[in-house]
Amino acid sequence: MRRTTLALLGAGVGVSLALTACGANEAPSSGGGSTASGQPSSSGAKVGVILPETATSARWEGFDRPAIAEAMKAEGLEADIQNAQGDVQKFSQLADTMISSGVKVLVIGSINSEVGASVAAKAKAQGIPVIDYDRLNLGGSSDYYVSFDNVKVGELQGQGMADAMKGKPAGSQIIEIEGAPTDNNATLFYEGQQKVLKPLYGAGTLKLVQSQPIDNWDNQKGGQVFEQILTANGGKVDGVVAANDGLAGAVITVLRKNGLNGKVPVTGQDATPDGLKAILAGDQYMTVFKAIKKEAEATAKLAAALAKGDKAAADKIATGTTKDTKGNRDVKSVLAEPQLITAQNVKVVVDEGYVKASELCTAELAAKCTELGIK
Ligand code: BGC
Repeated sequence: MRRTTLALLGAGVGVSLALTACGANEAPSSGGGSTASGQPSSSGAKVGVILPETATSARWEGFDRPAIAEAMKAEGLEADIQNAQGDVQKFSQLADTMISSGVKVLVIGSINSEVGASVAAKAKAQGIPVIDYDRLNLGGSSDYYVSFDNVKVGELQGQGMADAMKGKPAGSQIIEIEGAPTDNNATLFYEGQQKVLKPLYGAGTLKLVQSQPIDNWDNQKGGQVFEQILTANGGKVDGVVAANDGLAGAVITVLRKNGLNGKVPVTGQDATPDGLKAILAGDQYMTVFKAIKKEAEATAKLAAALAKGDKAAADKIATGTTKDTKGNRDVKSVLAEPQLITAQNVKVVVDEGYVKASELCTAELAAKCTELGIK
């Protein structure tokens, strides 16, 4: 059984980040030197950050990269942020280059646990601490893990589907299009979804047609697989659990082809501009908003502590733990809280500065935006 203790990211992180940012401005700009008090400083220290892909979700380049860049800067760190574009060889090469360029800390959002664990082992052999970013590398050796409560993400998806199906006839048919089997997060999302949905399947309130994981979170493949399942089921579906907004978009394209979009609730995740637009248009029922700025800020604060070798300070930030079920160890973690978003509260994502109203409120959606107070 996986055990997770939450280290809730509250207002405290923002406050202390603001304070650190002021301090960083006053700190000496020499790379990794000492402060006036003689304490080692992380100011100007190099941190390598590798993101996994671009195509599986708009989050990595749209939200994570800018948030990490800003948070690292606020901590006085010099971040080298690269994206492996779903290529495991490129992922390894980027890590090698970063390690030999003298990064003080390596932050990895891995394509899969295998490559993540091998990169972490190499970095650690050189004495470089490693932070698993968003995805935990099972069987790895990373020192810390920063993410969201991913079982909770799945529970919100399951809850969204259950809410959307309220009042529908018993035995309404559900198709599940899941994330990559090689991404531990996808396993956790599924675990969370099933906490809500399994009892409903068991009671006959809902009927599971098929649940299908999608290799590499490949959105296009997700659409094709969904279409095959739909066809095999005689074109009948009442709800679709899609593990993220990218997969949801591919599902909605197929539903539209069959004249079913807007009639069949679809779940999602990441609160991407396209996902939110699909919600406003009525084609997608919900998404999960993960405040990536908090994830990035916690990562940067951990990196700053580790860059100056202050493990005690890092441990004070990562007060939760996440079970690595393969390595059978508890990894010190910071896990932020996800939030369920439906049309009624799309506004939250805009108000928090993740998406601009102008991005969402195109001519066709302008009236909906006005109705929902999105501006
Ligand atoms: C992330 C999701 C993302 C998915 C595909 C997961 O590991 O947590 O936010 O949608 O990968 O990129």
